[in-house]
Amino acid sequence: MALEQYSAEMILAQAAARAAGELLLEYQQRGFTIREKRTSDLVSEADIASEKLILDQIRARFPDHTILAEESQTELQENAIPEHLWIVDPLDGTTNFAHGIPHFAVSIAYYRHGVAECGVVFNPARNDWYVAARGAGAWYQAERLKVGPQQSLTDCLVGLGFYYDRGAMMEATLATIHQLFKTGIHGVRRFGTASLDLAHVARGFYGAYFEYQLSPWDFAAGRLLVEEAGGRVTTAQGTALLLKTGSVLASNAHLHPRMLEIIQQTAGDFFS
Ligand code: IPD
Ligand code: CA
Ligand code: CA
Repeated sequence: MALEQYSAEMILAQAAARAAGELLLEYQQRGFTIREKRTSDLVSEADIASEKLILDQIRARFPDHTILAEESQTELQENAIPEHLWIVDPLDGTTNFAHGIPHFAVSIAYYRHGVAECGVVFNPARNDWYVAARGAGAWYQAERLKVGPQQSLTDCLVGLGFYYDRGAMMEATLATIHQLFKTGIHGVRRFGTASLDLAHVARGFYGAYFEYQLSPWDFAAGRLLVEEAGGRVTTAQGTALLLKTGSVLASNAHLHPRMLEIIQQTAGDFFS
């Protein structure tokens, strides 16, 4: 993206993501404590420290902006659409991080009147930068991103995620995977970091990606990457994606109708 297209918010988002990413790498070197928020849902001291660093930077530069951040337990009031809203996942992929897998990210997005203006997804372990700004495209390092051209599921990989639930949601996800294999896809991938999964759709690695429960901090930046790369992002029922916890389906746009059909067939009951 050309430098003149960088807004003050984009500059701040990148600076905060860089600093937070460096902090996460330090924690990986020196070790960290970890606990379960609920079964299998981990949080480490690195998540907390990263979030504090990011929030301090946003508050110092934009003191009157609203922030929705995972570990602060902040919640938007029902139907509230703040003029200036930051949505922060200080460490997306905590389970990978906790197990030493170098596939995790800092995700920071800025929304104005409910519309995504810019977003950054940064994997510090690989120095991988994904940025997007509304109307200015989505980028991986210096490369402009474009979703894949696949018109049929038989030509692609499908990414997916499981929320921490081990009950009906997991069963619905497994049923969808089962059906996807019957369509002859090349394979499914579950890499464990939703923001990077969305980046993989934007980059054309996946024809589609779905998950039956994500929170706004998981998808706020990644959805802009997909949209600016020419893809489509909705709920898994095909409705508009709001800043609420719920399902997400992202695709190169061509595959969206077919994915919705398969999800309806296999997981329809889960949503009703
Ligand atoms: C999780 C990751 C994972 C997805 C989960 C998310 P966290 O975020 O993005 O890939 O499957 O639904 O909650 O807890 O590591 O920030
Ligand atoms: Ca997350
Ligand atoms: Ca997180």
